[in-house]
Amino acid sequence: MVDAHIIDGKALAAKIKENIARKIATCPLKPNLAVILVGNDEASLIYDRSKQKAAQSVGMDCHIYHLDENVSERELIELISQLNNDHHVHGILVQLPLPKQINSLRILMHISPEKDVDGFNPYNIGLLQANSSQAIVPATPKGILYMLHSVYSDLTGKSAVIIGRSNIVGKPMTALLLNHNCTVTVVHSKTQNIEDVVKQADIVIAACGKPKMIKASWIKEGAFVVDVGINRIDGKICGDVDFDDVSKKAAYITPVPGGVGPMTIAMLLENTVAAFAQQNDLEI
Ligand code: GUN
Repeated sequence: MVDAHIIDGKALAAKIKENIARKIATCPLKPNLAVILVGNDEASLIYDRSKQKAAQSVGMDCHIYHLDENVSERELIELISQLNNDHHVHGILVQLPLPKQINSLRILMHISPEKDVDGFNPYNIGLLQANSSQAIVPATPKGILYMLHSVYSDLTGKSAVIIGRSNIVGKPMTALLLNHNCTVTVVHSKTQNIEDVVKQADIVIAACGKPKMIKASWIKEGAFVVDVGINRIDGKICGDVDFDDVSKKAAYITPVPGGVGPMTIAMLLENTVAAFAQQNDLEI
């Protein structure tokens, strides 16, 4: 048996960012991304700093609005309204999760759909469900689709199993793969016989937040396994897939780190450039 081919998300993302930087360099205006971070969750702080660094590296402006843990819904909505009305701001992102006093959906509903570069506003969720080309597609599923397309030009007829039903990954990934003619099954913490279901899949997308949960015995020979997990065991980052075990069985596998993570950031930048172009009537 040959070990799986490793999909290098970092290298793919670097190429995408180069392209974006080239496009921005030709523009008289710069895209501007506003990132809203509430509280001091360490992982969120790290993610938002890497989003800002990536945005600046391609020539965008990016400001992090860092708000106190105890901010009220009203104050947060006030900031979003200001950014919605500021024509110098093209993309708005509210880092999730939000503290418990805040209703996330109510917040996301206030982001202007055309500036909603995360694609989490119900309007964009609906457009994605309706298979509209106008939808802003959430960055993680969009990055995963890009990686799948780096191997398969057409996904028609492939069976995909998505492990996890989150609003950020599982649900939009389901819609996106259905829109690409896959047969999609979603499994989650209450599913019976998960292993048996996963074993049928040509494409496995692990987004359950359980370190190294997916083993080689769950995987059909020749499958494409995508690992969305970012977990820490004894300070070391690992995914939801037991990489050493599964890479002996799968045909393709995404590593953690260096797989889905960098692609998510690259797709956020793509969404921001697209929003910028649309708002300024530019073709870039
Ligand atoms: N939290 C985890 N992933 C994401 C993401 O893609 N966007 C935002 N805003 N928050 C997240």
